[in-house]
Amino acid sequence: MSIDPAINHRPSPALGLKIPRHIGVIMDGNGRWAKARGKARTEGHMEGVKALRRLVELCISHEVPNLTVFSFSSENWSRPKDEINFIFGLLHRFVASDLATLMANNVRIRIIGSRDGLESSLVRLIDDVEAKTRDNTGLNLMVAFNYGGKAEIVVATRHIANEVAAGRLRPEDITEATVAAALYTSGLPDPDLILRTSGEQRVSNFLLWQGAYAELVFVEENWPDFSEATFLAVLEEYTARERRFGGIEAKPR
Ligand code: FPP
Repeated sequence: MSIDPAINHRPSPALGLKIPRHIGVIMDGNGRWAKARGKARTEGHMEGVKALRRLVELCISHEVPNLTVFSFSSENWSRPKDEINFIFGLLHRFVASDLATLMANNVRIRIIGSRDGLESSLVRLIDDVEAKTRDNTGLNLMVAFNYGGKAEIVVATRHIANEVAAGRLRPEDITEATVAAALYTSGLPDPDLILRTSGEQRVSNFLLWQGAYAELVFVEENWPDFSEATFLAVLEEYTARERRFGGIEAKPR
């Protein structure tokens, strides 16, 4: 199954929904989905890819400008080697099967996270898909792969420290904007909404800095079951939230 090349654009304001500028998704519960059906965990991950395609289609059709999905965390290295290899293979297969459709839908892809420990063929694939989609102006799809929020802040801190050591930056000139610009998500708005499936209520090292004011929405269903109905229910929940950003009056987003 591939993403439909002719995705209908259904403007969501007609549904009375506020559309986040950036959605982060922790796609959790592939293993439990598989276990509940007596299947191998890898089958859960394959269904997870189908759910990811549905999510991308929905973000395109509802004109969500930025989407970041958590697909392999820096902590996932503790899983069995076979499962790790399978998830790495899925990234290869996802790119191979969906790149043409993503291009046709003007999607820009960025893989955020550390390249350390990744095989050179995977690094080449990442560089290639980023280069091919660089000039696309539609949905920004960030795939967090070998990503950890604390590690990201460490990398940013090292970069800033090097700038100071080289005399290009004074410590007193370091601001929140300096840190934000040194993160993998430089130039992107912070997520307005972070969604996690599978009933777990944790952020698990995902977009720690960027998610400071994100609305957190947790849904019970496992990631492979993610559907349009869930997507709309999550947007309804987000629309109903009052966002004050530490102030006393609701802000529009
Ligand atoms: C969480 O479920 C899921 C993952 C660690 C992998 C996420 C990968 C996908 C959704 C496939 C898309 C991937 C790519 C590379 C495009 P879990 O295994 O932690 O489930 P469990 O908590 O029920 O065991």
